[in-house]
Amino acid sequence: MYNCAIILAAGEGKRMKSSTPKILHKVCGREMVNIVIDVIKKAEINDINVIIGRGADAVKEATKEREVTYSLQDKQLGTGHAVMCAREFLDGKKGTVAIFTGDAPLITEETVKKLLSFHEEGNYKATILTSIVDSPSGYGRVIREKGEEVLKIVEHKDCTEDELKVNEINAGMYCFDIENLLKSLDKLDNNNAQREYYLTDVIGILKSNGEKVGALPIPFEETMGVNSRVQLAEAEKVMRKRINLNHMENGVTLIDSENTYIEIDVEINNDTVIYPSNVIQGKTIIGEGCIIYPNSRIKDSIIGKNVSIQSSTILESTVGENTTVGPFAYIRPESVIGKSARIGDFVEIKKSTIGDNTKVSHLTYIGDAEIGTGCNFGCGTVVVNYDGKDKHKTIIGNNAFIGCNTNLVAPVEVKEDAYIAAGSTITEEVPKGALAIGRAKQVNKVGWVEKKGLNK
Ligand code: UD1
Ligand code: CA
Repeated sequence: MYNCAIILAAGEGKRMKSSTPKILHKVCGREMVNIVIDVIKKAEINDINVIIGRGADAVKEATKEREVTYSLQDKQLGTGHAVMCAREFLDGKKGTVAIFTGDAPLITEETVKKLLSFHEEGNYKATILTSIVDSPSGYGRVIREKGEEVLKIVEHKDCTEDELKVNEINAGMYCFDIENLLKSLDKLDNNNAQREYYLTDVIGILKSNGEKVGALPIPFEETMGVNSRVQLAEAEKVMRKRINLNHMENGVTLIDSENTYIEIDVEINNDTVIYPSNVIQGKTIIGEGCIIYPNSRIKDSIIGKNVSIQSSTILESTVGENTTVGPFAYIRPESVIGKSARIGDFVEIKKSTIGDNTKVSHLTYIGDAEIGTGCNFGCGTVVVNYDGKDKHKTIIGNNAFIGCNTNLVAPVEVKEDAYIAAGSTITEEVPKGALAIGRAKQVNKVGWVEKKGLNK
């Protein structure tokens, strides 16, 4: 059986009060519309058409890696009108079209598959997903005949008092027989409270033509739509719970899973322990056996195994195995930290490579530098990488010892095994194995205090 899908994503999203189109708001780090596309693809529907309108270019840009096609809905005249705009996409196709909304990101692959097989096995011309809820306010109500059969869907604003009491809602996700859908769309009108062409009216039209309509109730947790920031936070919470559950099932310990924020794309290996208040984002991969103490943010980074991280920020960087980071370290993009290294408190690393076993333990800034293996940085070292106009490079050889409070004025090179005396300002190359002292010599003026009459 041929299957394709349409995602409605042209709407205004007024209730979000945002300059960003609603369906580009993110849930656990991924745009809602992309979450929906990914779920549909996982359910093996690959011919996907996205209806765009509001913020069309932004939506195209955000979805461009996902190989979908687009139909433009110039004016948002309702969900039925939106599907009419996909006529070109549907014309000549025979089979089933599944329709989803870009603002309901909690649907799962299993449910999409279930919907398809339910629709096919029941020989329905249309099948709707529904949910039974305590407070149906705002949703379209599913009106059934005395027996079982679905008769029609009535939008909240068009409901009679009796219909408002119905607590089975339309999830806004459907399967249609393509030819029957196209014929029914021609019959839609906008004689309703919102003066819109409702896709939901197609159900009543099919029914009055004597066609078979199916309904599949599923938990509200999967059908919840996002129309406001409050609902966005609710969706985020459900998604977060699913993500965290999945990590725990894979052998990751989350000390307090309700307060651990891991985005959709993150991968974490087993026996890693994550304390609360951590934010792990983007395409981050964390190796096995790591410990991440509270209050870290890690984004688009690769963390090796057995790494310990405490109250630190790591962005677009790599950290080698057995290294410790923090507390209060800041590793900025394009940095590569080696194995068994130490990046200690109040250390900032920017666009630099730090070799294996190198220790940068406290109060240090390293920018645009290549640091060898086995080096030791004393407290308060500053790589002076910026001359007010350009950034310059600093190169430190293996096993160099940088004394406390050193300035390394780039461009500069310190060769391997060299020592730098504390308090030095290094402006010239330090040869291999040399000791560099770049500071004024100490002078003691004996008896000076007494001579000045300053004794206490
Ligand atoms: C819709 C359903 C309602 C259902 C609810 C489930 C209709 C008439 N109503 O209501 O029965 O309970 O979803 O969440 O279908 N859109 C367009 N073009 C438009 C209008 C909307 O592309 O002209 C898109 C929106 O971007 C959104 C989706 O369609 O992704 C749903 O639109 P929305 O206005 O949120 O519909 P609801 O009022 O929630
Ligand atoms: Ca909606």
